[in-house]
Amino acid sequence: AKEPMRVLVTGAAGQIGYALVPMIARGIMLGADQPVILHMLDIPPAAEALNGVKMELVDAAFPLLKGVVATTDVVEACTGVNVAVMVGGFPRKEGMERKDVMSKNVSIYKSQASALEAHAAPNCKVLVVANPANTNALILKEFAPSIPEKNISCLTRLDHNRALGQISERLDVQVSDVKNVIIWGNHSSSQYPDVNHATVKTSSGEKPVRELVKDDEWLNAGFIATVQQRGAAIIKARKLSSALSAASSACDHIRDWVLGTPEGTFVSMGVYSDGSYGVPAGLIYSFPVTCCGGEWTIVQGLPIDEFSRKKMDATAQELSEEKALAYSCLE
Ligand code: NAI
Repeated sequence: AKEPMRVLVTGAAGQIGYALVPMIARGIMLGADQPVILHMLDIPPAAEALNGVKMELVDAAFPLLKGVVATTDVVEACTGVNVAVMVGGFPRKEGMERKDVMSKNVSIYKSQASALEAHAAPNCKVLVVANPANTNALILKEFAPSIPEKNISCLTRLDHNRALGQISERLDVQVSDVKNVIIWGNHSSSQYPDVNHATVKTSSGEKPVRELVKDDEWLNAGFIATVQQRGAAIIKARKLSSALSAASSACDHIRDWVLGTPEGTFVSMGVYSDGSYGVPAGLIYSFPVTCCGGEWTIVQGLPIDEFSRKKMDATAQELSEEKALAYSCLE
């Protein structure tokens, strides 16, 4: 039998946490043959609710779940973890300035970076979900210098999956037959959902999405706006943020990272830019990646047209500004 893997979920008493921990305990994130020990962290005001989640995990009698640590102590939470899913953060409240929200999150991610660096298992993989996700991940990277940058990522898989979903609805095809959409850049409304390399499996072979949709106006405007604004649309409908789909996408992100992407398929991950595609090095930017042997690689050599170039640069510009704002909070 496999040794259990320890999975940290911060902000585990929150909405995404509540959807995510049962998925992890059922083997959706790491595989149906991989036992897990869940580490759940939240802050003292949420300690009682966190304990309630722990009670439910016991009650659900998940066969793969070999233990639960529920704590408000960041060191205890980080100790020995193999995977860290960072969902905890400070939400923007009415009347708050962008800088105030950034400042709160910078201080959270700075201290959690130190705890992970000192106490996580060697080669721990980190996924930041909490917003501003790319910049929180960048702060985590900067303040955990001994964690290799290839082990730190942020979630744009939800946006990627939303793009797959929109194409499948539009063409009335199975979502599993659509692949290779790309989310470039920031997990924010400046992201660029790109279908130029996406294909659909049909009875007469793989066809480009552009050839099948035949509506460039929709692909270049409506589709992009729908994916960019989907989070807001869910909040409007549910009066709560998109927790189910965020949790499911976080599982997809880690599963593909650890177990690999299928041959010929790429997915979107926010990773540390090495300058590929002219994206400034030193930003956490969402790229198309393939994963093999527990490591991601940016897909190289995709042709980029002028329309895409502008959108990729605009979202990079926003990330550079976020980075500057984050650094100004450290002074
Ligand atoms: P929530 O407010 O329900 O839960 C957040 C939890 O984090 C709360 O339980 C809170 O007590 C906890 N928390 C706050 N500070 C903490 C700290 N220092 N350490 C540990 N826990 C802490 O929010 P929800 O809906 O679960 O969303 C969580 C985050 O994920 C938000 O920042 C949201 O914007 C983001 N998000 C990101 C998505 C993505 O695709 N990257 C998609 C959807 C949401």
